[in-house]
Amino acid sequence: MKINIESFPETELKQKYSSEDNLGFGKIFTDRMLVIEYKNGAWEDPTIKKYSPITLDPSAIVLHYAQEIFEGQKAFSTPDGQINLFRPDRNAARFNSSARRMMMPEVDPEIYLTGLKELIKLEKDWAPKSPGTSLYIRPTMIGIEPGLGVRPSTDYLFYIILSPSGPYFPEGFQCVKIFVSEFYIRAAPGGTGSAKTGGNYAASLLVGGEAENYGCSQVLWLDAIHKKYVEEVGASNIFFVYDDVIYTAPLTSGTVLPGVTRDSTIQLAKDGGMTLKEEALSIDEVIEGIYSGKTSEVFMSGTAASIAPVGSLYYQNKEHIINNFEIGDISKKLYRQLTDIQYGKVEDPYGWIVRVM
Ligand SMILES: Cc1ncc(COP(=O)(O)O)c(C=O)c1O
Repeated sequence: MKINIESFPETELKQKYSSEDNLGFGKIFTDRMLVIEYKNGAWEDPTIKKYSPITLDPSAIVLHYAQEIFEGQKAFSTPDGQINLFRPDRNAARFNSSARRMMMPEVDPEIYLTGLKELIKLEKDWAPKSPGTSLYIRPTMIGIEPGLGVRPSTDYLFYIILSPSGPYFPEGFQCVKIFVSEFYIRAAPGGTGSAKTGGNYAASLLVGGEAENYGCSQVLWLDAIHKKYVEEVGASNIFFVYDDVIYTAPLTSGTVLPGVTRDSTIQLAKDGGMTLKEEALSIDEVIEGIYSGKTSEVFMSGTAASIAPVGSLYYQNKEHIINNFEIGDISKKLYRQLTDIQYGKVEDPYGWIVRVM
């Protein structure tokens, strides 16, 4: 595979951020992007070029019928000056699984990974180094063929952009409040819940606004059929420590995104001797358990935060406080284990880390 690297005048390089203190999330983008076009039934050679707007025909399929998929992953600066990717093969595989669901062409995982590494190498000076910061990676594919009428596009654009990002918890590791959606649902069996496609997120915006009214930063989705079983959160999977067993929703119904962090958390918990079940747990059991002491901890898993402890669930017009709004021991331990591997502070016994350089 040949990667074309388009040069541009140094005077067009962006002014880099002056401090890593206020990076936030998804606000700053680096100088370059990786782009691959799909035409006449085949992918062309990848090109790394100046980060710049994309020109689309106003009738492009993606703009009307949302034929779009994306990924979210991170690169981490290590104490020895390297850059680590965390299980990037998993993201490439999930990207292709999303592509199949949305009738889009798959991207060769080798090209995905090599292209990503090349891009990061060129942009390495943008990778922040302070604790908790990362270089967020957003691979995306859109159907760009012009023309109205619901059908899969013939032409596609795959691109990767990079965004230096601050810590998920700028004020330190702390509990978050979650709003349980009783009426609206995220994904039904047979739908697109297990694909990372923009429409799933667009459909969640209305409830996200409602959650904010109650001071909640995230929405917990229940299963679409019974509105009873806990499934996942807006951009994370979720785990419940209930009666000393860790539960997370199974992936079998196809309504839950198969999180890379979810899979890693399951492995770490099991290897740590904890009992973990991928089984349905009802919201009633969770809420009753908060008062009986059976629900001792709740935490989310996702690329954004790695592990984020949940301090309360807002359900049926009431805030139910978990573990006195304190971070539980299991959440703390898993957060530490996971982030230590990601940031290269400890040996990675699982082969999860891929070094960029
Ligand atoms: C809906 C949803 N669930 C779960 C996750 C967590 O997945 P991962 O651990 O791969 O980031 C994400 C984030 O990508 C998500 O958007």
